[in-house]
Amino acid sequence: MSDSFPDPRIDRVLYSPEEIQAAVRRIGADITADYTGRTLTLVTVLKGGAMFLADLCRAIELPLTVDFMAISSYGPGAEGSVRITKDLDDPIEGRDVLVVEDIIDTGLTLAYLLRVLRQRRPASVSVCTLLDKDARRLADLPIEYRGFTVPDRFLVGYGLDLDGLWRTLPYVATLHDEIWEAE
Ligand code: IMP
Ligand code: MG
Repeated sequence: MSDSFPDPRIDRVLYSPEEIQAAVRRIGADITADYTGRTLTLVTVLKGGAMFLADLCRAIELPLTVDFMAISSYGPGAEGSVRITKDLDDPIEGRDVLVVEDIIDTGLTLAYLLRVLRQRRPASVSVCTLLDKDARRLADLPIEYRGFTVPDRFLVGYGLDLDGLWRTLPYVATLHDEIWEAE
């Protein structure tokens, strides 16, 4: 593990803290307008979505609750097969649910999650993601709110990790290609 910080493997900042916060405010205002008069349940997938959720929930001017799920994928060759390692604490039947994601890549994880959530008969389910890596999309997903459409690069920071590291960076950055290609 490198002992320099941030890290020489980080290439360049793609979205600064200011750009991220501007996107959070814009999305928060859109959600506030769209759900006026309703009570929202924000559902976030740990751990990557935690940073975005923490900022976004304070940019929405509505009564809302937050709940968390954790999932683990079965690894290469088993894309889209996902196991719930921590379920929601509360039922979502009859609730207006907004899934808050850090990044949607192939979309297979989210497609699975949406199937699970819809079986619980919520009043509605919508999707909000900070980052949309749309070039790699395999599952057809409705994404109501997005921060940025991102290039097909491996990104770290603001929740996104490589082997658990770099989630806590206040910006989103790319890694040097040789590191990304080794993954
Ligand atoms: P999907 O099922 O391919 O959409 O996988 C989405 C998940 O893959 C995200 O929630 C992240 O955990 C991870 N992921 C996808 N792209 C990146 C990236 O560029 N950096 C870090 N994690 C990523
Ligand atoms: Mg995730």
